[in-house]
This record gives sequence, structure tokens and C-alpha cells, in this order.
Amino acid sequence: MRIVILGSGQGSNAEAILKAEREGRLGRGQVVQIFSDRPDAGILNLGPRFEVPATFLDPAPYKTKLDGEGEQHYIASILACQPDLIVLAGFMRVLKRRFLLQFEGRVINLHPSLLPAFPGLDGIGQAFRRGVKVTGCTVHEVTIEVDAGPILDQAAIRIEEGDTLESLAAKVHAAEHALLPAVIARLSVAKR
Ligand code: GAR
Repeated sequence: MRIVILGSGQGSNAEAILKAEREGRLGRGQVVQIFSDRPDAGILNLGPRFEVPATFLDPAPYKTKLDGEGEQHYIASILACQPDLIVLAGFMRVLKRRFLLQFEGRVINLHPSLLPAFPGLDGIGQAFRRGVKVTGCTVHEVTIEVDAGPILDQAAIRIEEGDTLESLAAKVHAAEHALLPAVIARLSVAKR
């Protein structure tokens, strides 16, 4: 199963996927390319470490969505990778209809809350400030409605009395690093 990862940030989840692959925990999954919409994103440093092409792809002209020229550019570049699965690992842009039609059923996203609670930006901060006692992370299929596609799996975390935003974020990230590779491994067997 050929995997393309899209990310905008530090890339700790992409790293978890690549480590799982290296350690034989990614089923038939094989990461063939990483693309980032930010030229300075830490995720791009994973390329040389894991011997996977990691490339900045210009998303212009929009700031928060992938549309117009940028969308065309992404579609063409991703098609060239012949992907079976596109994993959004901290990709902070909304994907539009043309992209999703092109790769229908093949795009999954990681979100740092128990969807449908706390969609959108800063899922961890939203849960912390709301004072819920349980939060977590979700892997779901991407559909046109943001953070609302079919849920593939979730992991729950208890927010303890002494937790701070920082300690909660560390717990959510640790849960993400286990959940996302496990879901990909399962999909790789199902898609055989
Ligand atoms: C992750 O916590 C992921 O859930 C979140 O971005 C972070 C990326 O971290 N994604 C979203 O908020 C998507 N709406 P990373 O770059 O270290 O993998």
C-alpha cells in the first residue's frame, strides 16, 4: 500500500509512521513521499533520516485551504506517486471537492480530540478549556465536511486534576503516535 503523507508541522506523527514501517508494524504500508505546504516545516527533515522523498509543494494562492492552482499542483504531484492512501498528519489546510473526488475513499486525517467533539483548530486546547474529563484523538476518512467523515478509530485519555495544557498535549500526542500507525496497518490489510 503506497502512502503519501501531507503535513504542515513538526512531523512527529509522520515520524511515528516511518518508525512503525521500519520496525515492521505498518502492515503492507510503505511511505513513498512526504509533501509539506510550508518550506520550513520540521516534517521535511524526516526525508533524509528515513530515506523518503520529502518536498515542499507550493499551496498558493490561498492561506487556509487547498484550492485553485495550489490544488491542481497537489493533485498532479500526488497522482505521480500512485498512492493507495493519503495520510493528513498535521496538514493544516482544508481540502476541497476536486481533490477529494480525485482521491475518493483514500484520504485519512488525524485529529487531536474525540470527534465529533472539538473539531477545527486547537482540539487539545478546546477540550482543556471546556473542562471535559475525557478527550483523545481520532483517525477518520476525509470528506467535504471538515472533521466529519466516517471515524476509523479513536483513543481516549482521561484529563486528571493536575494536568496542564502542556501535559495534556503530551498525552494526546503519545496516543496519536500509537493510533495512527495502527490504523494504517489495519487499512493496508483490508485494502489488499
Ligand atoms: C497533531 O496533533 C494532529 O492531531 C494535529 O496536528 C498535530 C500535528 O503534529 N492535526 C490537526 O489539528 C488537524 N486539524 P505533528 O506535526 O507533530 O505530527
